Amino acid sequence: MEVRTERMIAYCITGILFVLGVICYTALAKMAPEEPIRIFFTSIGGSVLFDHKGHASDSGYAIACAECHHELEEEKGKPSACGECHQKDDAQDAPKKADALHKLCKGCHEEGGQGPVNCKSCHML
Ligand code: HEC
Ligand code: HEC
Ligand code: HEC
Ligand code: HEC
Repeated sequence: MEVRTERMIAYCITGILFVLGVICYTALAKMAPEEPIRIFFTSIGGSVLFDHKGHASDSGYAIACAECHHELEEEKGKPSACGECHQKDDAQDAPKKADALHKLCKGCHEEGGQGPVNCKSCHML
């Protein structure tokens, strides 16, 4: 093979790899979730695995964001972690985090007659 053809082939391969790299990069960026998929809470009561995607997505239980992220009722945007306002103790004007989560999670499960309400079916580990 001539040196020129070899060089052409090398350029082509470089070009193809570059295009492939760009495609993979953008595809992965699109796949990276903006919302959590699963959240693992650890507490002295035992750990709780919360299927965020299953609760929020249309193919899951399709619960509106603001049902849980109640700060979105007043202001649209990206929700904050509950712990930003609900602290470990009751000192703040917001109820303590575990109480707020029990009220929200158990409350809906009780009301809807669906989802775990017993301690051990949420605190599995
Ligand atoms: C069934 C209740 C529920 C629904 C519905 C829900 N979320 Fe969440 N979300 C949570 C809980 C609980 C957390 C954990 C917060 C924490 O760790 O304090 C969370 C965490 C998040 C976080 C991470 C916040 C942070 O800074 O750590 C984002 C972002 C988020 N949710 C977005 C959404 C969006 C967008 C929707 C609607 C498509 C939605 N959530 C629907 C309960 C819910
Ligand atoms: C920006 C601050 C803020 C964020 C973020 C926030 N909360 Fe709250 N939340 C409050 C305040 C303040 C109150 C008390 C006043 C009220 O009822 O609006 C409250 C009240 C509640 C209540 C009612 C408690 C009761 O006894 O009636 C629940 C349940 C609750 N929050 C759950 C959550 C959950 C779950 C998250 C996270 C997904 C969350 N909150 C995120 C500030 C916040
Ligand atoms: C607005 C209603 C609602 C809220 C709020 C809610 N859930 Fe659920 N949850 C459901 C429904 C509906 C199911 C489905 C039950 C079924 O299919 O038997 C469910 C099921 C579950 C299950 C069973 C396994 C699974 O994922 O399907 C767990 C565990 C669970 N929820 C944990 C939580 C936790 C933890 C929170 C609070 C951070 C929460 N849920 C908040 C409605 C809710
Ligand atoms: C629907 C799911 C669910 C059910 C049912 C549930 N819990 Fe929880 N529990 C949670 C979540 C979520 C947290 C918050 C963990 C955190 O603070 O990050 C929590 C926190 C706790 C904590 C830690 C409190 C603290 O101050 O840190 C204890 C203890 C606890 N739960 C005991 C119980 C007991 C006892 C029951 C039954 C009467 C129960 N839980 C039922 C989901 C649940």
